[in-house]
Amino acid sequence: MLILGINMFHADASAAIVQDGEIVFAIAEERLNRIKHFGGFPRLAIQACLDAAGATLDEVDHVAVGQDSDANLRRKVQYALSNASKLPNLLRLRQRKENLRDVRALIANALEVDPHGLKFREHHLEHHIAHIASAYYCCPWEKAAGFSYDGSGDFVSTMMAKCEGKEVQILDRVFLPDSLGSFYTMVCEFIGYKKYGDEGKVMGLAPYGGDTYCERLREIINLKNGRFQLDLKYFEALGSNDGMKLLPDGTIELARHFSERMVELFGAPRDPVGEITRRDMDLAYAMQHCFEEVFFHLLNELHRRTGVEELAMAGGCALNSVANGKLFSRTPFRHTWIQPAAGDEGLAIGAALHTYHSVLQQPRREQMNHAYLGPEFSEPRIEQALKSGGVAYRRLERGPLLEAVADQIARGDVTGWFQGRMEWGPRALGNRSIVAHPGLRNMKDVLNARIKRREWFRPFAPSILAEHQSEYFEHDHPSPYMLHVYKIRAAKRAQLCAVNHVDDTGRLQSVSREQNALYYELIRVFQRKTGIPVVLNTSFNENEPIVCTPEEAVDCFRRTHMDALAIGPFLATKSEN
Ligand SMILES: [Fe+2]
Repeated sequence: MLILGINMFHADASAAIVQDGEIVFAIAEERLNRIKHFGGFPRLAIQACLDAAGATLDEVDHVAVGQDSDANLRRKVQYALSNASKLPNLLRLRQRKENLRDVRALIANALEVDPHGLKFREHHLEHHIAHIASAYYCCPWEKAAGFSYDGSGDFVSTMMAKCEGKEVQILDRVFLPDSLGSFYTMVCEFIGYKKYGDEGKVMGLAPYGGDTYCERLREIINLKNGRFQLDLKYFEALGSNDGMKLLPDGTIELARHFSERMVELFGAPRDPVGEITRRDMDLAYAMQHCFEEVFFHLLNELHRRTGVEELAMAGGCALNSVANGKLFSRTPFRHTWIQPAAGDEGLAIGAALHTYHSVLQQPRREQMNHAYLGPEFSEPRIEQALKSGGVAYRRLERGPLLEAVADQIARGDVTGWFQGRMEWGPRALGNRSIVAHPGLRNMKDVLNARIKRREWFRPFAPSILAEHQSEYFEHDHPSPYMLHVYKIRAAKRAQLCAVNHVDDTGRLQSVSREQNALYYELIRVFQRKTGIPVVLNTSFNENEPIVCTPEEAVDCFRRTHMDALAIGPFLATKSEN
């Protein structure tokens, strides 16, 4: 049985294909059309899913969309009626959504096939149920607390659920305009980070600040009985209904979220190209602090209502790895399973798996135990990309390749590491990564000057052999998808200085042999040479979506100052080029 899951006309459009309950392939459209956070129709992603499954569209049995414009309609109408200015917007969105509801016609049209030959049944699943499904149906547990939170989706910003067997049973929803995601976005915008997806950057700025504004910012969020409410005086626009606009080219534009009240309290908003002042850092600190307070408050309530220690979580805010790292000490939850594609691309997997298990009542299968669900490329295709790019290279067997790359990393070279299937979700996890020495003082500056050009305050991440995690970090819960930040042990900070953030933390990826044998071996060889079971891992890209194809990798290698590129069995170095 073939189920195609999609997220369409929403940020991070994507597709996933599930065959007899197993996720065969999943990809965000941005990796294929190269438009970051593309929010249009995922035509290329759907085609890639079908190609990977060796199927044609007429063989698909079900299509599941992680969006249901009819969900929570009563609340939407109530909100619009109580805010006359919101009414035209609601009507416009209703009309647009009606036009987009005919999935059969949309897909047939995009893939240029006859809609009459398509047998699939359509399913529309509410946004946050799809988020929770994307975590719960992939986790190893028969029973878990389900949690999803983000800016908004289908008029909801937060959902709590009790997940058991095949079912996700909703316990509570927080409706717009109350949204923890919008709160975060609002403060990020105020301090000059105005692009969709900038929130993750500002998380790195927070520890540079101090506790100057926590009390004042806390006034924006009222916590009560396991719920929260925003003080709307501080906000202009909120949520996907009017806080965010999908432009005709599929890019996302954020409306101004903060109101004049913020300006009265904190002064002029920071100009995006202006200097980052102490005020901005302190606001970032307070924002992260308040966010965590609300998050833990909600999780404690969820635990009270479910009584389990296992948490299955997704939604864009679940990418807040700093908060995730602290939840073990601030809530009774002891185990987390967070969907690696916690943002909206993950809806494709959630909608497909929910259809399989809950709608069609098929039994749970094995858990999702790695995130390598994207495309891979044959050796001839990779070799052709190197030749076409005019790059000199050598072909090496596995052992010598690992030795050569580990040697390069050990001597301080920056190496592109392109292997196997591309990662699903926003993090590079050792298949589309740039790897470097984690213990060289200047490595962060070298990476930024030569390739990444990231903001000075953003840390780079460590990939660590799973069995060494507790020697280096103060917490041993695995972080296979780079979704937890933990303190680095004092004795190890010098050894990891290039990945040790200003607050002595690291957003680690725990690497096990079962999840990625080749990457695991690379780190082991590096450890043999240096004594450090860790490499610095940053995504393989330069201000663009992470590279997907060998051609994009070769192109990135040529245009940046990367020292070497290990792509499949081939090794190219700048000194030979
Ligand atoms: Fe979402």
